[in-house]
Amino acid sequence: MFVEVARMDDIASGGMIAVEANGKEIVLCNYDGKIYTVSRRCGHTNAPLEMGTLEGYILTCPMHYSQFDITTGEALSGPVPRSTGDEPLPEHLKNALQYTGMLLSRIKIYDIGTYPVKVEGNSIMVDA
Ligand code: FES
Repeated sequence: MFVEVARMDDIASGGMIAVEANGKEIVLCNYDGKIYTVSRRCGHTNAPLEMGTLEGYILTCPMHYSQFDITTGEALSGPVPRSTGDEPLPEHLKNALQYTGMLLSRIKIYDIGTYPVKVEGNSIMVDA
């Protein structure tokens, strides 16, 4: 059943907002004036995807930079270790980052869900 979750003027072109529909957390993505919906939780370790970036149809997770196709929910690339730049790090911090990187590489990344969406006038409706 479609429910209204937002208005078209709530979300600029290239923008994303988080909404809830029927108890599900969803991100609305405005790609070239058309609205797409994806699950709010990253297919890696559940980061809130509306805090990432949207370039064209590619959504990049804010936590470890996995990328998803918002038109299908397909995971396009896996997590990337955070860059620490060229400054030498204290040994304990370097070890902690290496351990975290090893753990991240062992976590499978999943495609994210998408939901039927329609726009009626200024109203964005989602069937979740
Ligand atoms: S939580 Fe999204 S890439 Fe790790």
